[in-house]
Amino acid sequence: MSDAAPQRLRLTGPAASREAALDRLHVWTEVHAVLEDDGADVVSCSGSLPDLADLDGLCCEVLPPPTAAELAVTGLEDDRAFEAAPGVWVRPPWVELPAGVVPAVELVVPRGGAFGSGEHGSTRAALGLLHAHWPAEPPAHFVDVGTGSGILALYAAVRGARGIDACDVEEASVVAARELLPVGSQVVRGTPGQLPAARAEVVVANLDGNQLREALDSVRALACSGALLVVSGMRPHETGVVEALGAPLQRLEVEGYVGFAFRVVGVAGA
Ligand SMILES: C[S@@+](CC[C@H](N)C(=O)[O-])C[C@H]1O[C@@H](n2cnc3c(N)ncnc32)[C@H](O)[C@@H]1O
Repeated sequence: MSDAAPQRLRLTGPAASREAALDRLHVWTEVHAVLEDDGADVVSCSGSLPDLADLDGLCCEVLPPPTAAELAVTGLEDDRAFEAAPGVWVRPPWVELPAGVVPAVELVVPRGGAFGSGEHGSTRAALGLLHAHWPAEPPAHFVDVGTGSGILALYAAVRGARGIDACDVEEASVVAARELLPVGSQVVRGTPGQLPAARAEVVVANLDGNQLREALDSVRALACSGALLVVSGMRPHETGVVEALGAPLQRLEVEGYVGFAFRVVGVAGA
């Protein structure tokens, strides 16, 4: 635990700016608790605060420091294990599986600053598609584009993928994924164009429609011929983005987020 006295902040403003502020606070300070309060995040943390002034519309109000009783409430009390896709259970390390549950795959993921605790519809669609189409022979190379917490790459590691490459444009995600993934995994801060092309037997990218439109050619180029390619994160009206990939093996929609599994034929650009 940091020696610095705990302080308490109330973050208000657009969700994206609050999320970015939390990411920075997780990187720069020791975060004790994040409590949601009527559209605001109340954060107890110790350490030097990062600069948050550039975050669009964010208001950061310094509250009186937390009492000992307030510090005992962490915001983790309601955390639970859940079935993110049939047979695939996700839980934070401080929560047990419900009695009697025997998962096909168990993913232990701490809920932190990076996207990817497993509850989001786009993550669940990606996990469901990976699980439904995972190759009988574990892949020698697996790539996760936009890895966030690293949850999808962790699925691959648990299923026996030998070489794992992942990338994300956000530093907080790179830090989180490096902590989560097995030693030997490569987590790069950047875009898919910075990863080795045409060698992965399984590629996954959970990005929103606009991000996927920008990145699709580079994502596709990572896959070898015959690879499984899973793309997720699109809203139903955005799915035209992946039309060029041909007929999918499966379309899966979870809570308004759509994912597709494709079999890649030929090598891009060949
Ligand atoms: C929707 S989250 C997915 C996180 C995690 N893979 C999951 O399934 O829960 C998308 C992530 O992609 C990252 N990202 C967005 N555009 C990207 C790009 N062009 N290249 C790499 N990462 C990107 C974001 O920073 C974010 O962490």
